[in-house]
Amino acid sequence: METKELGHTGVKISAIALGGMPMSLSSRPPESESIKVIHRALDLGVTLIDTADSYCKDESDKHHNEGLISKALSSYSGDKSNVLVATKGGLMRPNGSWTRNGNPDHLRETIRISFEALGGKPIDVWQYHPPDTDYTIEASLKPAKEAVEQGTIRFVGVSNFSVEQIKRARDVVEIVSVQNQYNPWNRQPEEDGVLEYCEKEQLTFLPWSPLGGSRRVGKLEDIDAIAQLAQEKSVSVYNIVLAWLRAKSPAIVPIPGASKVSSIEDSVRAVDVNLSDEEVAKINRATAS
Ligand SMILES: NC(=O)c1ccc[n+]([C@@H]2O[C@H](COP(=O)([O-])OP(=O)(O)OC[C@H]3O[C@@H](n4cnc5c(N)ncnc54)[C@H](OP(=O)(O)O)[C@@H]3O)[C@@H](O)[C@H]2O)c1
Repeated sequence: METKELGHTGVKISAIALGGMPMSLSSRPPESESIKVIHRALDLGVTLIDTADSYCKDESDKHHNEGLISKALSSYSGDKSNVLVATKGGLMRPNGSWTRNGNPDHLRETIRISFEALGGKPIDVWQYHPPDTDYTIEASLKPAKEAVEQGTIRFVGVSNFSVEQIKRARDVVEIVSVQNQYNPWNRQPEEDGVLEYCEKEQLTFLPWSPLGGSRRVGKLEDIDAIAQLAQEKSVSVYNIVLAWLRAKSPAIVPIPGASKVSSIEDSVRAVDVNLSDEEVAKINRATAS
């Protein structure tokens, strides 16, 4: 599997990562199936798994996805020395809804629980999930800075941040990655300057819901330009979208979610799909808002 550098840390990550969310929401598959998905991803060379404390059914189930990934890594018989897990904190799941919580006391506590859930070794990447306007970015990122100093977090990332917010975060603690939504239905990172900023500053950009998320992934076939290119190249529409995102910037590492082995098996094939400038432009035109 092709690799990329995580930010400018010198640490390598696979050019396609695995998004863990579909394995822990209410629609999740049996645990044994999820463990097969994670093991298959590792077999195929995936070395970055994205998760969050909030990938679970509700508050009583918090940290489910982290525990699942930790269990899958423990039972994996192959080489896992290069595997990084990127988790997040800052979202709550009352009754299964999603609410923000940037309270530094909460974040300090959730970092501690994530550390335990991921096996009691330094968290590879901890991302502040969404900015919470009830607290300043400086206050909310202080616990992450402390955890880096204490050795419980190796690297820090941010998610759902604007350029101005990323700059403020970088004044508090070194930031290696930015995770914002980016897919055929949401091309905001091209317009708001975040993608350009990440490329210039050597920050890894992790597009979330790269295939549009579980509600829209089935609609990719309906975008003619994508369906046609998939047919011409004898690859899936998912491969075309992931290749299109990768063609946008060397900073990009897509994190397609999967709860089926077949999904991650297909997604990793996107590393071998190359699109010409003309083909990228064709998809751009078909997905312009
Ligand atoms: N930072 C944030 O605020 C935020 C928000 C949302 C998501 N995320 C992260 O981003 C990751 C990806 O987003 P996402 O999971 O919402 O959406 P996504 O990656 O756009 O789509 C995931 C869905 O697409 C299907 N799929 C993926 N690859 C496929 C393939 N090659 N062939 C057929 N079906 C395929 C999966 O099906 P199966 O489940 O059937 O395998 C899954 O249900 C999440 O897992 C999570 O780690 C972050």
